[in-house]
Amino acid sequence: MTIEVHPFAAGCGAEIRGVDIRKKLSAEDRDAIRKAWLDNLVLRFRGVPMSDDEHMAFTRQFGELEYNPARLIEKQYGVETGQSGRKTEIPPEISVISNIVENGKPIGGLGDGEAFWHTDSSFVDVPPAASLLRSLECPPPTSGGSTYFLNCYTAYETLPEATKQRIDGKIMVHAATHSSGGIAHKGFEHVDDVSKVPGARQPMVRTHPETGKKSLFLGRRINAYVLGLPVEESEELLDELWGHMVQERFTWRQDWQVGDLVWWDNRCAMHRRDAFDGSKRRLMHRTQLKGTRPM
Ligand code: SIN
Repeated sequence: MTIEVHPFAAGCGAEIRGVDIRKKLSAEDRDAIRKAWLDNLVLRFRGVPMSDDEHMAFTRQFGELEYNPARLIEKQYGVETGQSGRKTEIPPEISVISNIVENGKPIGGLGDGEAFWHTDSSFVDVPPAASLLRSLECPPPTSGGSTYFLNCYTAYETLPEATKQRIDGKIMVHAATHSSGGIAHKGFEHVDDVSKVPGARQPMVRTHPETGKKSLFLGRRINAYVLGLPVEESEELLDELWGHMVQERFTWRQDWQVGDLVWWDNRCAMHRRDAFDGSKRRLMHRTQLKGTRPM
């Protein structure tokens, strides 16, 4: 076996070297990569330009592919998200994240703005287990567009004991109303009272189905609500948890190069992205693995 795992000196993440992920993996290499992923939460494969077919084939070696978020929202909430500009030749298992506009239409989501801390698609009952994001075009890091990952195990473990007791067993609503860029999803009405927000009911502390470890599971801040609490108390609790959660010591930053593939465990790692210079092109394709109901 040639695989090398190089953990980053950061809150999470490791780089994998010594394997060509465009080719079918041996069972031994596949198991080693899977173990490294569970141990480090986020893996980077540096500078491996690949096709969508190779990207999907690599992902499939670790489980079943999930559809893009628009499909997941449409399926659970019965709304029409109207993903304008999506190219029909791109398979529905690939999400396109881009600021590129062609024929007057954006070809992907999120534009050039900041994407706030979030877990991918936790507004559906069964969010993806994993996301694998690949860079096809990217601006230099000096123009922005870096992506940050956060270790939700350590965020949970370092909470004060009293806070752990306060949230253990509590359920919150992960609102379906907005993208991680803060843009209202098409098909949902404006929400004045967060206690009535449409979304998935998720445990605030979830136990990883494979590692058995507990992590803080907050989804995204916008329109979130802790079930059973008066709205003011829910807001205060969520602000306290978010204040703790987003400490730099729990994070690792990815400065993109073309051909990078970054694979995170969506069950125990969150991510956010810096805004970037909109005059530069940025194009990412993402696959996801199907998950299980958070518990
Ligand atoms: C995402 O939130 O999945 C996109 C991150 C990025 O564009 O770097």
